[in-house]
Amino acid sequence: MAKTEVKTSLLDNMIGVGDMVLLEPLSEETFIDNLKKRFDHSEIYTYIGSVLISVNPYRPLPIYSPEKVEEYRNRNFYELSPHIYALSDEVYRSLRDQDKDQCILITGESGAGKTEASKLVMSYIAAVCGKGAEVNQVKEQLLQSNPVLEAFGNAKTVRNDNSSRFGKYMDIEFNFKGDPLGGVISNYLLEKSRVVKQPRGERNFHVFYQLLSGASEELLNKLKLKRDVSRYNYLSLDSAKVNGMDDAANFRTVRNAMQIVGFPDHEAESILEVVATVLKLGNIEFKPDSRVNGLDESKIKDKNELKEICELTGIDQPVLERAFSFRTVEAKQEKVSTTLNVAQAYYARDALAKNLYSRLFSWLVNRINESIKAQTKVRKKVMGVLDIYGFEIFEDNSFEQFIINYCNEKLQQIFIELTLKEEQEEYIQEDIEWTHINYFNNTIICDLIENNTNGILAMLDEECLRPGIVSDETFLEKLNQVCATHQHFESRMSKCSRFLNDTSLPHSCFRIQHYAGKVLYQVEGFVDKNNDLLYRDLSQAMWKASQALIKSLFPEGNPAKINLKRPPTAGSQFKASVATLMKNLQDKNPNYIRCIKPNDKKAAHIFNETLVCHQVRYLGLLENVRVRRAGYAFRQVYEPCLERYKMLCKQTWPHWKGPARSGVEALFSELEIPVEEYSFGKSKIFIRNPRTLFKLEDLRKQRVEDLATLIQKIYRGWKCRTHFLLMRKSQIMIAAWYRRYAQQKWYQKTKSSALVIQSYIRGWKARQILRELKHQKRCEEAVTTIAAYWHGTQARRELSRLKEEARKKHAIAVIWAYWLGSKVRREYRKFFRSYAGKKIYEFIIQRIMQNYFLEMKNKMPSVSPIDKNWPSRPYLFLDSTHKELKRIFHLWRCKKYRDQFTDQQKLIYEEKLEASELFKDKKALYPSSVGQPFQGPYLEINENPKYKKLKDAIEEKIIIAEVVNKINRANGKSTSRIFLLTNNNLLLADQKSGQIKSEVPLVDVTKVSMSSQNDGFFAIHLKEGSEAASKGDFLFSSDHLIEMATKLYRTTLSQTNQKLNIEISDEFLVQFRKDKVCVKFIQGSQNNGSVPMCKRKNNRLLEVAVP
Ligand SMILES: Nc1ncnc2c1ncn2[C@@H]1O[C@H](COP(=O)(O)OP(=O)(O)OP(=O)(O)O)[C@@H](O)[C@H]1O
Ligand SMILES: [Mg+2]
Repeated sequence: MAKTEVKTSLLDNMIGVGDMVLLEPLSEETFIDNLKKRFDHSEIYTYIGSVLISVNPYRPLPIYSPEKVEEYRNRNFYELSPHIYALSDEVYRSLRDQDKDQCILITGESGAGKTEASKLVMSYIAAVCGKGAEVNQVKEQLLQSNPVLEAFGNAKTVRNDNSSRFGKYMDIEFNFKGDPLGGVISNYLLEKSRVVKQPRGERNFHVFYQLLSGASEELLNKLKLKRDVSRYNYLSLDSAKVNGMDDAANFRTVRNAMQIVGFPDHEAESILEVVATVLKLGNIEFKPDSRVNGLDESKIKDKNELKEICELTGIDQPVLERAFSFRTVEAKQEKVSTTLNVAQAYYARDALAKNLYSRLFSWLVNRINESIKAQTKVRKKVMGVLDIYGFEIFEDNSFEQFIINYCNEKLQQIFIELTLKEEQEEYIQEDIEWTHINYFNNTIICDLIENNTNGILAMLDEECLRPGIVSDETFLEKLNQVCATHQHFESRMSKCSRFLNDTSLPHSCFRIQHYAGKVLYQVEGFVDKNNDLLYRDLSQAMWKASQALIKSLFPEGNPAKINLKRPPTAGSQFKASVATLMKNLQDKNPNYIRCIKPNDKKAAHIFNETLVCHQVRYLGLLENVRVRRAGYAFRQVYEPCLERYKMLCKQTWPHWKGPARSGVEALFSELEIPVEEYSFGKSKIFIRNPRTLFKLEDLRKQRVEDLATLIQKIYRGWKCRTHFLLMRKSQIMIAAWYRRYAQQKWYQKTKSSALVIQSYIRGWKARQILRELKHQKRCEEAVTTIAAYWHGTQARRELSRLKEEARKKHAIAVIWAYWLGSKVRREYRKFFRSYAGKKIYEFIIQRIMQNYFLEMKNKMPSVSPIDKNWPSRPYLFLDSTHKELKRIFHLWRCKKYRDQFTDQQKLIYEEKLEASELFKDKKALYPSSVGQPFQGPYLEINENPKYKKLKDAIEEKIIIAEVVNKINRANGKSTSRIFLLTNNNLLLADQKSGQIKSEVPLVDVTKVSMSSQNDGFFAIHLKEGSEAASKGDFLFSSDHLIEMATKLYRTTLSQTNQKLNIEISDEFLVQFRKDKVCVKFIQGSQNNGSVPMCKRKNNRLLEVAVP
C-alpha cells in the first residue's frame, strides 16, 4: 500500500519542538511554553525521548482516521510528528519482532484522557494486526469489552463526564505472527461508595441512567422499574443528564456489546435484574420502632419496594426483612442476635447495595475474561495496557482517594525506577561517564503508606482488627503517634509542633505530601471502608435468592461454608493487587503515555498554565528530559547488538570470532558513526541519539532486504539449477531412450536391409551356382547325350553289325535248320503222323475261337434293338465272323422284341409301316402322325344312342368312324360329316342326325389325292360312271388324314386285291359331274386350324390355302 508521504522526520514543519529533548534552553517555562504552543496548534502530542505527553484537547481532532493509521504504520518512531499511533506502532512492532512483552502505562489526572488514550492504542493495534474471521472476532470482543466495563465502572464526576471509577489493566495476548489471541482484564478497586452516594454535581454509574432511559417499557416492567430517575434515592438529581451523552443510545450500544462479547440474552437480563435490585434497595426506608430491652429498633416504612425486590431476586420476604432488622454475631459457637436501629439499618442497606454492585462488577470482569481469553495454549506475547484512575485531589478526600493516590504513587515509583533511577544507576554500573541528575524519589512516600510495620495501611488494618472500641478517631490518633516524624505526613494532632497552628489542616484530617502535591484526607469512614463489612444476615439472605447470579455473588452466605475468619481488609487487598500489578509491569518493557489536563473546565482551547505546570512538576517531566538529554537514548547488551547489526560490517558478517564488544567496536568504526554518538559500557553499548539508532535500523533494514534478495537470488539460482539439472537429467534420459529407440529402429532396418541384400546376394549367388550347375549338368547331359548318342550310334552300329552278323548267323542257322529240318523230315517223315500240323493249327484256332466267344459272352451289349454298341474285333481274321455275329445278334434281339407284341399291336405297327411306306418323305404331314396311335373309330357309334339308327343301318365292321369336313364342291365351304369306313363301303352321314348321306362301295374308289404340304385336305376319286360318282369326286379335310388314307389303302387292298392309287401332288384334277376342276394348293394361309381355306375360283380352279 502506498504510504502518504507527509513528512520524513518529526523535525519537518515542527511547531515548537516535537521532542522536549531538543528544547533549548530547557526550563519549566520553556517546557510549558512549548506544550502550549503545540496545544494551540492542535498538536496535543509531544515526546520526551520515547515517552509520550498527551494534552487533552477536549474536542474531537481529525488525527485518528484510517489514513492516519496507514501513515504511521511500520514507520520509525521519530520519522513522523509525535502521535499516539507512533508509540502504539513502536510497541506493537517491538512485541512482534523483538519478542519482548510490552506494557503501556497511561497515567495522568482524572480527565486527562487516559481512557481515551487506551482506546486509541487498542483501536490502532486492532487496525494493524492480522486479519481473518477468527482474528476479527477476537479483536471485536476485545474492543467491545470497553463499552460494557465503562457503563458499569464509569461515572460523571466534576472532573470528567466519563470518569473511570476503577482501575483497569488489560493484557492483550498475541501469537508469534502478531495476531491477537485474546486478553485478560484485571480491575482495581471500584469506587463503590458512589453506588449509594455521589458528591454534588456528580452521578452514579452510567448503567443506572442508561437502563432507565434506554430500556423498553416491557423490560422496565419486568424489572419492576419506573423510567423516572427521581423515584430512586440512589440517583442524585442535580446532574441526571450529562451534556453530549445519550444514555438511551448508550444502553443499546452496551446491549449490543454484551452480545458481541458473548453474553447470552438471559445472562444480560440477570445482570440488569441485579442493577434493578440495587436501585430498589436504595428506596427501602426505615423508621424507628418501639424499643425492646432498651434497644432501638427499626422498621421498614413501605414494604412494597421490599416485596418487589424479593420478587426480582426470589428471596423470601420475611428472610430479607429480618436481615434488615437484626444482626447476628457468631463467636466461639455463640450466636448473638441484636436488633438494628434506624442508622444501622440504613448502613446495612447501603452496605448490601455497594457489595451487590461491586461484586456484580467483579463478576462481569471475570465473565468478560472468560469470553475473551485466548483459546490456545501456545506461547503468547503480551501487551499490557494500564488505564488506572489518575491522581485525585478533591475537597473532601476519603479512603478511596487515599487508595487511588497510593496507586499513582506506586506508578510514579515504577516510572522513576525505570526511567530515572535505574538509568542513572546503569550508567555508573557500566562505567559510563555520568554527571548525576537530581530528581525526586517517591519511595519514601510509598513507604509511608505501605510499610508493613508502621505504614498507614498497616495501621488502619491494625485498628480494624483491634478489640475494643475502634473508630476513625482512634485510627488518626494512632497515625499521629506513629507517623508524626515522617517528612511527608502532616497532622494537627501529631506530636510534631509544625502544624499546631496550621488552620488549613482540620483536626479530623491528615495530610500527605504526595509526589503530585499535598492531599488532605478526611479520616471519617476509613475504618468502615477498610473493614468493608456486610452483615452476615444479609449475605445469607442473598445466598437464599433463587436468582442464580445473585446467589453466586454471595458464596459466603452459604451456611455450610461459614468462615469465622475475617475477610482481608479492603486496604490490604488493594495493596496486594497493586504489588502484583507492579511485578507484572516490571517484567515487561515499559512505555509511557503521560496525560495532561489543560484546564479544569473540560473545555477546548483553554490552556491553564498553572494547572499544567503543576502536573508537569509532579510528573517529573523536566527531570525526565534532563536525564534523557544527559544520557543515552538506547542501550543494548553487546551480544544481541552484534547479532542484530552484524550484517552491516564485512568483518562481523556472517560470524564474529572474538568477544562481542570488539565485534560491536569493529562494526561501529566501519559504519563511521561519530564517536560522541556512542559509548562502550562494561556489558552494553550506549547510543546517545535515537537518530543514530534509526540510522542503524535503516541500514539494517536495507541490508536485510539485500540479504533477503541475496538469499532469494541464491535460492532461485539453486531452484533453477536443480530444475535445470533435473531437466538435463530427464533430457539425457529421454535422449538416451530416444537414441536407443532410434538405434534399435535403425538396426532393425539395417538388419532387414542386410537380410534383403543378403538374400538377394545369396539368391544371385545361388542362381549363379545353379546356372553353373545347370550348365555343368547340361554339359554333362550333353556329354552324356552325345556319349549316349555316340554309344547309341556305336551300339546300333554294333547292333546292326551284330544283327547283320546274327541275321547272317540266323539265316545260316535257318537255312541250316531248314536244311536240317528238311533233311530230318526227309529222314524222319516216316516216324511222324502226316496231319499233326493241321491238328495243332486247328487246336490253336479252336482255342482262339473259344476265348473269343467266352469274351464275347462277357462283353455282350444290351438287348435293345437300338443299342449300337458292339465289342471290337480281337483278331483280323475274325472280321467277317464278328460282323456276322453282330448281324445275327441284332436280328435275334429284334425278333425277341417283336415277339413281345400282341396281334392288335402288330396290326397297328403294320398299319404304321404301311403309312411309312406310303407317305414317308412324300407328305409333310407324315412326321406328325408317327407319334399318334391309329385308333380307327374315333366316334363311339356303338355306345352313343344318338347314332343308334346309323349303327343299325350298318352291318359290317366299322374300320374308321370320324367326323370330317366335307368341302362343298361349288363354293369350297366345309360341312361336318361322319366319315365311316367299313370292309366294303365308304359312308358319309349327317353329324347331327346320323342319317347316311352317301354310300360308296370301295370298288368304286379309284384314287386318293392330296398335297405334299402339312395339311389334311384330300380328294377321293370315284370310278367314272358309278352311281356314287354322279355328283363328282369327294373333297375332305381331316385331322387324321394319314391314318384314313392308310386304312383306306389297306382295306381296298384286302377287299379288292388292288392297290389303291395315292397321288401326292400340289396340283391335281378332280371330276365334279362333267367338269374337271384343278385343285391348287397355295401356301401362306393364316388359318392354322385343320380345316384348309378352300376357294372356288372358277369352273376349273379350286384354290386351297395351306399353312
Ligand atoms: N485525544 C482526545 N481527543 C479528544 N477528546 C479527548 C481526548 N482525550 C480525552 N478527551 C476528552 O476528555 C474526556 C476525559 O477523558 P478520559 O475519560 O480519557 O479521562 P481519564 O484520564 O480516563 O479520566 P479518569 O481518570 O477520570 O478516568 C473524554 O471524555 C473526552 O471528551
Ligand atoms: Mg478513565
